[in-house]
Amino acid sequence: MNTLSQEKINEIRNGVNIVDVISSYIPLTPKGKNYFGVCPFHDDTNPSLSVSASKQIYKCFSCGATGTVFKFIMDYENISFKEAVKKVADLGGVQVNIGKIEKKQTHQELHQIYDLALKFYINNLNTAAGKEAREYLHKRNINEQTIKEFQIGLSLKHDTLSKIMTQKFKREDVLKSGLVGLNDNGYYDLFYERIMFPLYDLDGSPVAFSGRIYNKEDNAKYFNTRETEIFKKGELIYNYHRARDIARRKNQVIVMEGFMDVIRAYTVGIENVIAMMGTAVTDVQASLIKRMAKEIILCFDGDEAGAKATMACSNELLKIGVTPKVIRLEDNLDPDEYIQKYGKEAFQRKIDNPISLMDFKITYLKSGKDLTTSTDQAKYISEIISELNKIDDDILKELTIKKIATELNIDESLIKKHLVQNPKPIMPIKKAKKSPVMDKYEKAESALVYYMLKSPEVITMYNNRVTYIPEKEYRSLAREISAFYKNFGFIDEADFIDYVECDPDLMATISKINKTNTKDTYTLEEIEDYINVIKAYNVQEEIKRLTDKMKNLTDPLDKAKIAEEIVGLKKGV
Ligand code: CTP
Ligand code: MN
Repeated sequence: MNTLSQEKINEIRNGVNIVDVISSYIPLTPKGKNYFGVCPFHDDTNPSLSVSASKQIYKCFSCGATGTVFKFIMDYENISFKEAVKKVADLGGVQVNIGKIEKKQTHQELHQIYDLALKFYINNLNTAAGKEAREYLHKRNINEQTIKEFQIGLSLKHDTLSKIMTQKFKREDVLKSGLVGLNDNGYYDLFYERIMFPLYDLDGSPVAFSGRIYNKEDNAKYFNTRETEIFKKGELIYNYHRARDIARRKNQVIVMEGFMDVIRAYTVGIENVIAMMGTAVTDVQASLIKRMAKEIILCFDGDEAGAKATMACSNELLKIGVTPKVIRLEDNLDPDEYIQKYGKEAFQRKIDNPISLMDFKITYLKSGKDLTTSTDQAKYISEIISELNKIDDDILKELTIKKIATELNIDESLIKKHLVQNPKPIMPIKKAKKSPVMDKYEKAESALVYYMLKSPEVITMYNNRVTYIPEKEYRSLAREISAFYKNFGFIDEADFIDYVECDPDLMATISKINKTNTKDTYTLEEIEDYINVIKAYNVQEEIKRLTDKMKNLTDPLDKAKIAEEIVGLKKGV
């Protein structure tokens, strides 16, 4: 399984000289033992990137970027570890079959169920039962080619899918899929008469559906598959697999709210587009977007909700050091409507002239306020200050302060007085530790992640049983390990470190878990124990949350409902 062993990686790395490779990207000049160049990973003016031939690593004295030849190529070209290894292998003439590092598919049955469901839905659209749905799509200017490309399908009036599925697959797997339910009358379909849009995981496998109504009134315009073992809504980005390469080439990615918007843009030839599925962007999604391209443009719906979502998404990105640009569409239009109304060229002009995040925020914070009143003025100023404290671009800060001071006719010092002196670091700020002694919860988290780095078995247990690790640092590391395993089909601590070595937070967590845990072997009981401790903690937190919530309720019925939930949770512990 471990098709790309550490030996092979070493062989590939030793096949080239890092100085030669980096100098094919940027000019290097020898100075003393090392070579120096202008660092491509920040706005460098003095050559602060040092490349060591003896250590075969590079290091920037200014921004701290560091790593091996793989890491340099990954970051410079915005490509994956696997792709970088392949490149270096080619350069060094080392034979390696990277194609063999296939992802080892976990949850095979669920994937098979989804592959079959996709075929089933696609086929329905082409039958007589699909006539009305096809007409609906055509009316929305979605042509046959687009239907094919995005694998759009149709769910039926009757429980046909559940019949097929229960004949072909194990019933427990069928029920796990979120496409079929079971009641006293037997198995039934969960989607009826909806146009089915497949949602794909990062590799492009269908793992969920969003079904849209087309022939009836319904409160829910879209109905989505619930979360399953293969579908975590907060880790998915619509169209990621189609957009990734082109976004890297253009070094630009456009983020939209809905998948219909993405389909429209893609269809008219703007292909570096992704969507967030109408929910708040999570930290996982933000870091995926960050890795796609340098220029990130948020193009959400033109209405008030879209403006609010733009604020939320940009703040999540700012936390990881990314300042996106913004497009706002007139008349409350969403990108789909805008492109249909004004055409591709008009939309392309928007993309070519995005507004800066600060300008967007100024407009946004101003809207709905009466700046002739001092109450609104004070509120406006304090909100602007809070936004300024999130950015670390001195020039932009200075310009914004000037603008606001002139606009409101106030003294610049009034704003400056409230600015935080040393703005936030690029990486998210870590919570101050409660106590130097680890409690049993943290011990369990630390041990679980430690063994995940050692064994696929533990990763699988984590994937199947742990939905949330409370401490952010362990949670981030666990997610990264799980993603690595998913992408490369194996886990190896050294490879993993190669892969994440430029992320100081992850590296700090790795050394921490290696300090706390020292054993090489584990028993399944131990892992079960850790998982149960983590779960118990989550339940306890949930009970706390519900208890607080209950305190604020007045309606005895609502109270009783929550009390019942709490009892249920306590029973589970
Ligand atoms: N969404 C959802 N459930 C809803 C409404 C929206 O899951 N009831 C999600 C969908 O993923 C959708 C996104 O939120 O892609 C954006 O919603 P919206 O702007 O309302 O959808 P549109 O893209 O405009 O869809 P359409 O044009 O078909 O109305
Ligand atoms: Mn729409």
